[in-house]
Amino acid sequence: MQTIKYTFIGPIRQVVTMKNLPLKGALRDEQLHIIKEAGIMIKDDEIYDIGPYWDLYPEAQSIGAEMLNLKDDYVALPGIIDCHTHICFGGSRAQDYAMRNAGKSYLEIAKAGGGIWDTVTQTRKASLEKLAQLTVKRANRHLKDGITTIEVKSGYGLSIEEELKMLKAIKLANENTSADLIPTCLAAHIPPKDFEGIPEAYLEIISDQLFPILKDQSLSNRIDAFIEDTAFSAADIQSYFNKAKAMGFDITVHGNQFHTGGSEVAVNIGAISCDHLEASTAKETALLAQSDTIAVALPGASLGLGMAYTPARKLLDAGASLAIASDWNPGSAPMGDLLMQAAILGTFEKLSNAEILAAITTRAAAALNLSDRGKLVHGLQADIVLFPTADYREITYQQGKLKPSMVFKNGVKV
Ligand code: NIG
Ligand code: FE
Repeated sequence: MQTIKYTFIGPIRQVVTMKNLPLKGALRDEQLHIIKEAGIMIKDDEIYDIGPYWDLYPEAQSIGAEMLNLKDDYVALPGIIDCHTHICFGGSRAQDYAMRNAGKSYLEIAKAGGGIWDTVTQTRKASLEKLAQLTVKRANRHLKDGITTIEVKSGYGLSIEEELKMLKAIKLANENTSADLIPTCLAAHIPPKDFEGIPEAYLEIISDQLFPILKDQSLSNRIDAFIEDTAFSAADIQSYFNKAKAMGFDITVHGNQFHTGGSEVAVNIGAISCDHLEASTAKETALLAQSDTIAVALPGASLGLGMAYTPARKLLDAGASLAIASDWNPGSAPMGDLLMQAAILGTFEKLSNAEILAAITTRAAAALNLSDRGKLVHGLQADIVLFPTADYREITYQQGKLKPSMVFKNGVKV
């Protein structure tokens, strides 16, 4: 007979549960549900109970829970969720970064054959095992920062074979890290060189031949596309997304990074999220706010490219749901420090602590269509991050420098 394992953690100065928050719109810090001097009871890999420490203590003892007594000050948050990354890649683009700082733009570099294409070349050269190893290394760095769920995109393969290699590498990486990796197929990142001038032919091959394999081999349940001048047009992508939707994939879009148009496609197809949005105007903001599509800000791309931030304040005030992700990739967003980026976006966009924390926990879970995490409540995954502080506001105040001292994934300390 399998025995149940209980673990009791506490006392914790503040547990910020993130429960009962609306999915959409602006949030005030007073709306946060915070339990003071709390204890968290874990049952195997799930949250079993959270409440005042001394109220739960007798039960913890009587059921023989393993007692994790905390002596110092801690604040607990749900495991952080990074809902948009490209951490499976080969090589580096330090050269691009230097070129951009010397005055060349991201789109100019892409048009000259560098940029994303450069990483495609380097990723194609890497073996599946090597890519998995690199992905695990980056995922483990994220895990140390309290990020327990990480979305990872393909998109540097750009052929059936190479996209499959990437997605299999992500699957292998997932088996070799304690973080949960959520794979997304971004075969529609840019048109590959051998399909220059005929992007629709490439998309047709991918949707007809790759999509069924993704389903059969459970390699990804999410389809993404980059809608931009140097990538795919709204018209190119329509039938691609229609096919994906008909096959039951969740859809997500790289939209409005430099030009508008992507968010309209996202909303019309019922995409789960539309990410980037830096170029959005009032029209796009209103459209997203009226939809169920989650707006995902990627401040790491703004910092990497030296460009405007996503209008997060306007999106929230209009009533949209806002998640924040790192976009960690070798080109536009090489830093990969989600908490630092979210805190910095907060200062520029005037976001409350509640809005920032929701954007990297419960709202990020929604952007991945995951209802089993993102909050600290009974029955959800025991993904818990403990920060060494007595006041949750220190986390954004220290702008990402305050790192967690304990991280639990599925109830296990990592
Ligand atoms: O989200 N914008 C398109 N794709 C990635 C960048 C990929 C790259 O530059 O390698 C992004 O910013
Ligand atoms: Fe991206």
